[in-house]
Amino acid sequence: MESAGLSGVGGTSLGVARARAWESRRPDRLFDDPYAAAFAAAGGTGDGTPPAPGPHRARLAFHVIIRTRFYDDYLLAAAEAGHRQVVLLAAGLDTRAYRLPWPDGVRLYELDLPEVLTFKERVLTGRSAVARCERITLPADLREDWPARLTDAGFDPAAPTAWLVEGLLVYLTAEEAALLLTRVGELSAPGSRSSFERNNAASMIAEGDRTGIEEYASLWKGGLGQDTAGWLIDHGWRTEVHALSDVAASYGRPVTGGSLSGFLTATYTPDDRTPQ
Ligand SMILES: C[S@@+](CC[C@H](N)C(=O)[O-])C[C@H]1O[C@@H](n2cnc3c(N)ncnc32)[C@H](O)[C@@H]1O
Repeated sequence: MESAGLSGVGGTSLGVARARAWESRRPDRLFDDPYAAAFAAAGGTGDGTPPAPGPHRARLAFHVIIRTRFYDDYLLAAAEAGHRQVVLLAAGLDTRAYRLPWPDGVRLYELDLPEVLTFKERVLTGRSAVARCERITLPADLREDWPARLTDAGFDPAAPTAWLVEGLLVYLTAEEAALLLTRVGELSAPGSRSSFERNNAASMIAEGDRTGIEEYASLWKGGLGQDTAGWLIDHGWRTEVHALSDVAASYGRPVTGGSLSGFLTATYTPDDRTPQ
């Protein structure tokens, strides 16, 4: 995927920003991202005016919009419950550090590829954006040794963490996704929470017909596969599944035509496991 600002997998963050820009223009918006249109414009992907997307593109954009609000709610609930350490793995052009009403004492880490974070800082600095929590950005390839970077930056594995892995796993192989989530577990104090997509975006789209979304689909590597919830349970996480159709309906945006996709939220409870 290529655009004026970012290319390859980093460029997918611009597609997400563009969907958030469209949503932010709606009178009945589910969130307001005041920087999304600026990212899209700087990246050469438009100014937030919705084009007439094809059916698959529209479904992807719908998924992005519902998940944005879902993860907003998830993160704020974790903060309300006392979690003051937040880690966004593959933060992309996420602006939750700037737009959510965080309680005092939240320290939020954003990890993504160096070129994505450089692009993001350029746009945010140009808009004089001010974070509403302590924000720490860490350029890293999430297939490599990112835990060392995180702990060097002050992350405390003994404190409960709210992890968000939004829109990343599908761009990793099963082995890379399992390694990433294993590391999340190793860095998690009991009671830590995590959330991400239930199964990969490819499950939303019929195999073989990816018209209009080729630039994303060509980068998909499958992620953990279909049983992400089972993997989490086996690795010490108490897991809840949230169907996209239920979540969307709860926001007054019912899904038309059905959807297999959705989200997982999980709490790290390693001591609940039956001894082998
Ligand atoms: C679809 S975007 C989602 C971004 C963000 N979570 C959001 O929803 O706005 C996917 C993100 O994953 C990041 N990414 C993919 N592979 C990565 C890797 N190996 N290391 C770090 N970041 C990666 C890309 O740079 C991109 O920002």
